[in-house]
Amino acid sequence: MSSHPDVIVVGAGLIGCAVAHALSRQGAEVLVLDASAPGSGASQASAGMLCPHIEGAHDPVLQGLGADSLARYDAFIHRVCSDAGMDVPYVRNGTLQLADTDERAEVLRRLAAVLHGQGVPCQFVEGVAAVRDLEPLAAPQRAGLLIEPHGAVRIRDLIEALRQASLHQGARCLHSEAVEHITRHETGLVVETHANTFHAPHVVVTSGAWAMNLRVDGHPVIPTHPVRGQLLRLQMRSGALRRVLWGPGIYLVPWADEVLVGATMEKVGFDSRATVAGVMQLCTAAQAVVPELAEASFSEVRVGLRPGSPDGLPLIGPSRRLPGLVYATGHFRNGALLAPLTADLVAAIVRDASADVPSALAASRFDL
Ligand code: GLY
Repeated sequence: MSSHPDVIVVGAGLIGCAVAHALSRQGAEVLVLDASAPGSGASQASAGMLCPHIEGAHDPVLQGLGADSLARYDAFIHRVCSDAGMDVPYVRNGTLQLADTDERAEVLRRLAAVLHGQGVPCQFVEGVAAVRDLEPLAAPQRAGLLIEPHGAVRIRDLIEALRQASLHQGARCLHSEAVEHITRHETGLVVETHANTFHAPHVVVTSGAWAMNLRVDGHPVIPTHPVRGQLLRLQMRSGALRRVLWGPGIYLVPWADEVLVGATMEKVGFDSRATVAGVMQLCTAAQAVVPELAEASFSEVRVGLRPGSPDGLPLIGPSRRLPGLVYATGHFRNGALLAPLTADLVAAIVRDASADVPSALAASRFDL
């Protein structure tokens, strides 16, 4: 690869890796820069849930974008696995939301009616026995809602596959380059790290919460902020839980060899410590939903810093001020879900700066 790549991707999280893969797949020479190893930021604590009708239930725009991205997931996984020559654990067997009070059951009943109206396959059930038919290990519940198209992907494997696939296509990834400054030069864009200077006609900012610390010439501060998530890895017998479970304040994502339990939501700046309070909160809420988890073995606490944005939606699109600069950051709780859509949008923008981006996502809404 030349020392003058076509595109520099700033940030090697899930979004950066997905963008690098999509760009290198369309023939671009791509250089990914990060201060740390791939997937060290928000991705650390991502359980990889793919559930737009839960995460987006409060915001029709987010729900629509999430459903669009989910519809791209099968093809995305197929491309990544075949380019990487490895498998990525990925399931589309639905999510089960649990309601332990009449009030929560009513919320699920209303959500089911809306989803039926939208043609989303789902099943609302009432009573302890009906919920247990769907998930035998669930604590007694008033109601449950199974949303069938939902699923999950193992994020660590997905990032590794994206990295391998990009490398096979000629991309390069440097892991000790802390990007500090992006500016313009007569021949294109200049990216300065703590130690080196790189040049490229296109630069994509995918540095998650850390985007707020980048200096971009002539731009206001990029309005991202960190929201800490603590996530537990537990071991229980294989196949014990059938699918992703959502209970009050908790979600459980089962894989063959572990159950991921997430996640806290904490505005504590760039503090990425695991805390006693965080772990206790997750353990208590998880046991209330699946009592058998009291006997699970404890493997690890993972901590990630999600990239929050002022309106909860990502910032995707070209800069109005620096031609060649593209934003793809601020995915908050939805990086895993929105990765295929984001990668497709960024690839289209790099091909043609006037490519359409949903206006709700445009980076220009924050004067960038
Ligand atoms: N998407 C789940 C989370 O961010 O905790």
